[in-house]
Amino acid sequence: MVKIYIADVSKLNDEKTFSDLLSTVSKARQEKVNKLRFQKDKSLSLGAGVLLNLALKDMGCKFSDNDIVFSQNGKPYIENCKVKFNLSHSGTKVMCAVSEDDIGCDVEKVKDIDDKIAKRFFHNEEYDYILSQKSEEKQKDAFFRLWTLKESFLKITGLGMKLPLSDFSIIINDKDISIRQNLDKNDYRFFEIDLSDEYKYSVCFIGNNEVETKIVEL
Ligand SMILES: CC(C)(COP(=O)(O)OP(=O)(O)OC[C@H]1O[C@@H](n2cnc3c(N)ncnc32)[C@H](O)[C@@H]1OP(=O)(O)O)[C@@H](O)C(=O)NCCC(=O)NCCS
Repeated sequence: MVKIYIADVSKLNDEKTFSDLLSTVSKARQEKVNKLRFQKDKSLSLGAGVLLNLALKDMGCKFSDNDIVFSQNGKPYIENCKVKFNLSHSGTKVMCAVSEDDIGCDVEKVKDIDDKIAKRFFHNEEYDYILSQKSEEKQKDAFFRLWTLKESFLKITGLGMKLPLSDFSIIINDKDISIRQNLDKNDYRFFEIDLSDEYKYSVCFIGNNEVETKIVEL
């Protein structure tokens, strides 16, 4: 089972709501939030921590600060817990995805694109897919679908930017999404969430899992 939690953190700009929620997250998350300079980043980091607590509670996983460990490339895990998670934040949105297997998720706010980025960093097939779109609006849509799908893959592997973006290719066939990659033999699947807003949300998971999405009011 893959569970996805999404929330808007705008309400955390309110001081009382912010401090009430801050007291509910782990000490490590509190420290992380406090180190950030801008309120918008503090709210995103806190929102991610709140979603993580909720998700792990739903999955029946108890954890304390000492249980959070990091892979070589910085991907967080919970020791002694069968549940894996991944977090993402952008604009005013936060996302948390959990599963019993490795998982990666990404949210990005759609903005204007510089097609040199896709040409330089994406796989040729992906660049061609973007150019094949008939309007500028559709190209932008394709770019951000690919961006979040690619990022969700980088994040499921835990390699982050250590894995060059042109080393693998995401193939979009309308709603059917697949990947060409040489990293391993895992059966990677992709799921996109369309909330009809100015964001793209993608999740990468392994195997034939049921996916459940929850929109959370903070
Ligand atoms: C660090 C990275 C994993 C994600 O960075 P990002 O897109 O800026 O940030 P997101 O908000 O999506 O994700 C951040 C979360 O990922 C998690 N994370 C950190 N390192 C990670 C790793 N190596 N693998 C998976 N997840 C990781 C953390 O939980 C972090 O949230 P937290 O700090 O609140 O705990 C990495 O892929 C990166 O640097 N990306 C740069 C973005 C880019 O250029 N993308 C190219 C477009 S395809």
